[in-house]
Amino acid sequence: MCGIIGYSGPKEPLPILIGGLSRLEYRGYDSAGVAILDGEKLTIEKKEGKLQILKDHLENSKINGNIGIGHTRWATHGVPNDVNAHPHSDNQKEFAIIHNGIIENYAEMKDDLLKEDFIFESDTDTEVVAVELGNQWTGRLLETVTNVAKKLDGTYALVVTSTKEPGTIVAGRMMSPLVLGVGEGETFLASDSAAILEHTNKMIFLENGDFVEITNGKFKLFDINMNEISREIQEIDWKVSEAEKSGYDHFMYKEILEQAEVIERTISGRLEVGSEEIPIDLNKAKGFEKIWIVACGTAYHAGLFGKDLFEKVLGVPVSVELASEFRYREPIVGKNDLGIVISQSGETMDTIAATELLKENGSHVLALVNVVGSSLARMADSVFYLHVGPEIGVASTKAYLGMLVGQLLLAKHWDSEGKLDTSFDEIKQLPALIEKTFECEDQVKKISKSINEKNDIYFIGRGLDYALAAEGALKLKEISYLHAEALAAGELKHGTLALIEEGTPIIVTASQHHLLDKTTSNVQEVKARGAYVIAVGDSSSKKLQDISNDYITLPEASEMLSTVISIIPLQFIAYHVANLNGESIDQPRNLAKSVTVE
Ligand code: G6P
Repeated sequence: MCGIIGYSGPKEPLPILIGGLSRLEYRGYDSAGVAILDGEKLTIEKKEGKLQILKDHLENSKINGNIGIGHTRWATHGVPNDVNAHPHSDNQKEFAIIHNGIIENYAEMKDDLLKEDFIFESDTDTEVVAVELGNQWTGRLLETVTNVAKKLDGTYALVVTSTKEPGTIVAGRMMSPLVLGVGEGETFLASDSAAILEHTNKMIFLENGDFVEITNGKFKLFDINMNEISREIQEIDWKVSEAEKSGYDHFMYKEILEQAEVIERTISGRLEVGSEEIPIDLNKAKGFEKIWIVACGTAYHAGLFGKDLFEKVLGVPVSVELASEFRYREPIVGKNDLGIVISQSGETMDTIAATELLKENGSHVLALVNVVGSSLARMADSVFYLHVGPEIGVASTKAYLGMLVGQLLLAKHWDSEGKLDTSFDEIKQLPALIEKTFECEDQVKKISKSINEKNDIYFIGRGLDYALAAEGALKLKEISYLHAEALAAGELKHGTLALIEEGTPIIVTASQHHLLDKTTSNVQEVKARGAYVIAVGDSSSKKLQDISNDYITLPEASEMLSTVISIIPLQFIAYHVANLNGESIDQPRNLAKSVTVE
């Protein structure tokens, strides 16, 4: 949430900042701004709206300098406008600060500053920090920033520069992600490694309470008491091209079509019995008394899929929990439990808090994450990386598929009695199967025309198909702004059936053979009320095919893999419906990719 970029080195900062912000726009896109320091001259430019507005504004301006910081905002305190956009300044306009996170005690701090006759221009919590920096200047930027940080309650990634110490950037983090990019004689800062990957693949992921002082491209790390510390430099193996649109209209579309290739990486080296890439072996897995799968959004939907698999192969009860709920109730978590936390970014605030709760109660935490070096990866006892590359589209696609396949791999390794109807040999063929599933796109495009003007769309399924339906509905509503709802098919008659009328679109996922007759009966019920039925299933579902208005036939595969690939037509439906309606697919209104606030 909110994108941060910073640069110190021999190059002109502005193009680097704009390039970085372009890669970070998915983190927030209601306003953007930059601050450039040229000796003692500080220039701040910021604009409400998408980054393009700031880019147009800066097109002919030559703002030279030796350091710069930039921000793209997802509003928390104060509406999106030019004044509330970052960077913010103190009353003397000597400091520029950008911030990701929420300062919870900002109102008290503001009251104190107002009593001392300081003034405020914006409604943000960040400006309070800027004004306090001006108030607390000690003669050294690092000392001033760490002193102010000690007064802050809440979460932050802060980046500060000041005319009082030209040539220096100081940054620090508490709960919000901040990455340092280590170049040759230059140093970058970013909220996300993908933003600076084109400049360097050497990264330091700052820990909570870490601060960095960057002067003339060189950096030193400190704790909040200014004791010097060291952190390991990690090399990131993501390709720069993966974080680029490469001629596609939208990242989401590119990421859907990349799925065959990236799943090849997810499964690579993990198909052999005893693979060291599987972090928990069968013996250990069998010893857990309970499994908690905890996640948010799409990752939570992926967890719904994992539950059935793990229960089946381990005979251990599994509870799937929304992290935002789990963290605030009192779940009975034991020290012999396994927590599986699932997250694309590895930085989702609620999932991090839930992980802390699991750890405090002594359970073993396994993180299924995509971003290498992310907070969850560092907190967990064991890590299983998805390896699907950077995901830029706010609506998750390839990471979701990676989460399904990741859990399937774990379950298959724990499947000592062969309870899952798939084999490692078949899973090896998954990339080819995904490729074949893409052939449904033309059909989906036509179907999309029949639903793009409807206001309410229902997704139904049973068992694992219900897990997929939940994700299909989320995808559609996120980017098309149509009301979409997922229901366990058997639940329809307990209420929602009242809403079904002539032409209501019902999208059915029906890959589970043992549930097919039951699902087909539910489809009969909605057909009888005039629903327009679009079904996804394989060629054996003759009866369902006959009664559906449109039937998307999946390529031949085992039931398990059919379920996995069923998401592809649902992703295409969401994409093409939103595209027909001209929506801003990669940056849906009000949403952001990485939710690092509560
Ligand atoms: C946001 C994103 C979703 C994502 C969720 C959890 O809401 O827009 O696409 O599923 O956060 O994110 P995570 O990074 O933890 O998977």
